[in-house]
Amino acid sequence: MGLRFKYNIVLLLACAVGITVATAISYVIVRKTAVQEVEQSINLLRANATAVRSYTLNNIDPLLSDNGDILFLPEKITSFAARSVFDTFNEEFPEFRYKEAALNPTNPADLPNALETDMIEQFRADPSLERIAAEVETDEGSFLTVAFPVTIYQEGCLRCHSDPDIAPPAMVDLYGSENGFGWQLGETVGAQIISAPMALVEERARETAIILVSGLAFVFLLVFVLTNLMLARIVLRPVRRMSTVAEKVSMGDFSIDEYRKPGKDEISSLSISFNRMRRSLERAMSMIDV
Ligand code: HEC
Repeated sequence: MGLRFKYNIVLLLACAVGITVATAISYVIVRKTAVQEVEQSINLLRANATAVRSYTLNNIDPLLSDNGDILFLPEKITSFAARSVFDTFNEEFPEFRYKEAALNPTNPADLPNALETDMIEQFRADPSLERIAAEVETDEGSFLTVAFPVTIYQEGCLRCHSDPDIAPPAMVDLYGSENGFGWQLGETVGAQIISAPMALVEERARETAIILVSGLAFVFLLVFVLTNLMLARIVLRPVRRMSTVAEKVSMGDFSIDEYRKPGKDEISSLSISFNRMRRSLERAMSMIDV
């Protein structure tokens, strides 16, 4: 096995390990950063939905309350407003999803799925919990889902969510008297749940990994070519010439020219030492011949 072959095998192994480790680390870091960015977008959307809720409760509801008994306008409902604003937002950004789920919802469409129920139960068990994030696999791909608790802090909520007898009759007509009642002050009844697709995150992490692999592969190729050229010029070629000379001299043929490698490196000094040895040998041989 030649020197060059051994050297290249070691170089190849080192580069393969280096590229794999660097790519894996970059993938993990980029993915983490991308997840944080998606979470940040979700936080903004949640803040916006909450702002729409309180605007509806404080500014719209008082204006329309007088009509409560005769005409029920869903527009004054906080969760209806938040969802409607989000629907408009979805026209431009369809990849995000918003849901206000409750364990005992007024609108059956707000019934939580298994994961959402679990998240709401966690909020109910631990009131200090402010958010829960989870990566969810669905038929449409994987999503980052973040839930925020909905807790009844205002008495006003109980006007429609405590007892059907005190709720606006028009609302009871529309939604029935079975669901969305019996909520208590201070109780966490549900959660705002916002999802964003992880496809964006995966794509970003993959793109960065590909750029990194290409860059590292290019550097490796450069190192490979340059070190092979250097190895041939500085070590292999001179050693091969010296070995040819040594071969002849060892068989008593001194007709071949001396080889002196230019420069001051170790191979050069080896060539000088070798020539000196050869001359001594030649002299010794000629003395024997005499
Ligand atoms: C005027 C009556 C009314 C008031 C006041 C009201 N809600 Fe509602 N709420 C509703 C109705 C009706 C719905 C169903 C809306 C729909 O069709 O999505 C609803 C839906 C919700 C939902 C979504 C889950 C579900 O039940 O379908 C949550 C969460 C919610 N309300 C919380 C609150 C909170 C918190 C307050 C107080 C800040 C509040 N509501 C005040 C009538 C009311």
